[in-house]
Amino acid sequence: MEKLTICGKKRLNGTLSVQGSKNSTLPIIAAAVLCEGEIILHNCPHLTDVGAAVNILSHLGCKIRREGDTLIIDSTNIETSEISEKLMHEMRSSIVFLGALLARTGKAVLSTPGGCEIGLRPIDLHLRAMRDLGTAISEEGGKLFCTAPDGIRGREITLAFPSVGATENVLLAASLGKGRTILNNAAREPEIKNLADFLTLCGAKIYFAGEGKIIIDGVKKLHGCEFRVISDRIVAATYMAAAAVTGGEIDILNFPVNDVTPVLPQFEACGCKIVSDENRMHIKAPSRLKSMGTVRTMPYPGFPTDFQAPAMTMASVAEGTAIFIETIFESRYKHVSELKKMGANITTQGTVAVVQGVKRLTGAKVYAEDLRGGAALVLAGLAAEGKTEVYNLKHIDRGYEKIEEKLSSLGAEIEREV
Ligand code: EPZ
Repeated sequence: MEKLTICGKKRLNGTLSVQGSKNSTLPIIAAAVLCEGEIILHNCPHLTDVGAAVNILSHLGCKIRREGDTLIIDSTNIETSEISEKLMHEMRSSIVFLGALLARTGKAVLSTPGGCEIGLRPIDLHLRAMRDLGTAISEEGGKLFCTAPDGIRGREITLAFPSVGATENVLLAASLGKGRTILNNAAREPEIKNLADFLTLCGAKIYFAGEGKIIIDGVKKLHGCEFRVISDRIVAATYMAAAAVTGGEIDILNFPVNDVTPVLPQFEACGCKIVSDENRMHIKAPSRLKSMGTVRTMPYPGFPTDFQAPAMTMASVAEGTAIFIETIFESRYKHVSELKKMGANITTQGTVAVVQGVKRLTGAKVYAEDLRGGAALVLAGLAAEGKTEVYNLKHIDRGYEKIEEKLSSLGAEIEREV
């Protein structure tokens, strides 16, 4: 069974560069379905989730090839509107192909993505929004049969929750719709703006009216373009956390400084010294972190739920107590039991976790159960005394590009063993 073997307590030092954003690349790959022409997409990370999205595009009839960090896509011809259950289950966020398929072909047959390790992941907000835009949807045998015979019809929509995926589906569907769509209570994550910038470059008419309101005036056709995906803010924060838990000092290039603003107060509360300019950061950690206090995950620009697990590893070795309140997903504490195997002192009650920092963690065999929880275990291995073995790397490889190479380049003793 493949594992990462880590010998901890090495102070990290050096410079690394942040990969492209997984959560930007995926909806932009789906957006390619809307465009007739060639798309050149730079800064696409080498991740299994990106591979799954590429497989879906190929299945739909698009031509796609990768040259290094660049994807070259031609979606002039779409041959089918159906995505098989196997392809849908390779990556749960494939629901974001729904809006693009409906707008481009007038129909879509997908299987319901189902839950995943961090929660039930319902899609009611997606379906409600697509129905609001004129789509007929029936569910049968775990499949969604969606048709928009008169095309997507623009109108005012308000999301009950600022869902990232539902916002993306509305942007994709309405871009090729008839008339104006006004979306209220839209998600404000940076990946939404990156998707809108891509669509605008392809000829879409999208306006951010502030306070979570987005206006989309549908156009008849979208063409190709050349575009660069933003850097991954969660991966960037994870490498900051690697420096933080090892008392290290690192420089991070290709850094999305503005996008990680929501987590800077926690790093500063822990005693990290941070200096940054528009796309690089220097972080110097104290020999032992102080408590980050109370962390409540919220939609952007609040504290990101995707950084809750890595932050909990920081809190596990800090001086003092930290409290986490996970408000976005209902079961995003799967890493707690594994951290406790390493000596962390964490008590959970529903979506609240109380972390009493300990002086030291001890290496152990631990098992990743989801993407960000897996990253938290790697961070714990870097901080722990002795050897840690992290298993179930498929979760980590969904979102972190060559994590062992990046950390080794900073002086970590880590290797992947098959
Ligand atoms: C995106 O997931 C990200 N994934 C997630 O990152 C991230 O955690 C999440 O946004 C929140 O920021 C991608 O971008 C590929 P949501 P998404 O719709 O779109 C509920 C990672 O680690 N909800 O904003 O699925 C839902 O259950 C991943 O990179 C409904 O109730 O998130 C959750 O409680 C994990 N009905 C909340 O909203 C719906 O129809 C937020 O979900 C849709 C969502």
